Amino acid sequence: MKVGFLGFGEVASTLSKGLLDQDVEVLTCVEGRSPRTVDLAKSAGVKLSQTPQEVARSSDILLSTVVPDQAVNVAKEVGKHVKGVYVDLNNVSPSTVKEALNHIESGKITDAAIMGSIKNGLKTPIIASGPGADIFAELNQYGMDIGVIGLETGQASALKMLRSAYTKGVSALLFETLYAAYQMDVDELLLGYLSQTEGSFFQESANSRLKSSAFHAKRRAQEMDEVLEFLSDYEDPLMTRATCEFFHLLPAKTGIIRKKPADYREMFRKVDYKGE
Ligand SMILES: NC(=O)c1ccc[n+]([C@@H]2O[C@H](COP(=O)([O-])OP(=O)(O)OC[C@H]3O[C@@H](n4cnc5c(N)ncnc54)[C@H](OP(=O)(O)O)[C@@H]3O)[C@@H](O)[C@H]2O)c1
Repeated sequence: MKVGFLGFGEVASTLSKGLLDQDVEVLTCVEGRSPRTVDLAKSAGVKLSQTPQEVARSSDILLSTVVPDQAVNVAKEVGKHVKGVYVDLNNVSPSTVKEALNHIESGKITDAAIMGSIKNGLKTPIIASGPGADIFAELNQYGMDIGVIGLETGQASALKMLRSAYTKGVSALLFETLYAAYQMDVDELLLGYLSQTEGSFFQESANSRLKSSAFHAKRRAQEMDEVLEFLSDYEDPLMTRATCEFFHLLPAKTGIIRKKPADYREMFRKVDYKGE
């Protein structure tokens, strides 16, 4: 089995490590890429090809793990050279995935989405849809956790967007209500009452959501732009629009957060949240 990567950042280097341990052949091309990418590929010990087209021709499974705004460009570059299955793993909307996959003229296509932190390595849950999804899921025999959710491209990325609309919406609401409670010194009481309806793990998960919302606010804002555009095709997404605005404004309220805060109270102390 040969697995190729287009783009070799955090996702590609993490998955490669696990796949190489399972004796899967891994290849990429780093010609013209940044020193960080070259270092990641060299220290992972993957095979280096001269061109992305050569990677495409040599791979049974070819994963696009670039940055969201390059998903279409890299698909265009290799579109005529894919021999196996082309998998788009980027965090993009269903319409962007379809646009990228439309450039793949040979081989099979798959839309896939990472449903957790890639720090969990091969065990990170990934969902996939499209004609090549079953073949992509053959990587499960090497330790990956790929769930095939459907035959149509766009389904996996849609599910990821819908999940984001919900989880990030809840995080924004939680931030807003708990910050007011914190100023009144009733935040712990509020969390206690919410736990009665939301379950015993609520307090811990609320704390974790609030800290990472602030720490990753910029990335969340970009993701919410995509989610908002996607949902706007189906409805007038009032809540999602507010969540999107919330994450765009959050960095100005918290200031730059270089290290994840120990808890939500430490983060609130940094906030100059006047609501204007
Ligand atoms: N990290 C996560 O936990 C996570 C979770 C879910 C989804 N994702 C998605 O997975 C994708 C990859 O994420 P990542 O965290 O691995 O990103 P990353 O660490 O920023 O790496 C991106 C890689 O893509 C390369 N690249 C950029 N433009 C390219 C182009 N036109 N042609 C070839 N290579 C190109 C970059 O090379 P240079 O260094 O030369 O720019 C770099 O090697 C993203 O779309 C992201 O949204 C990531």
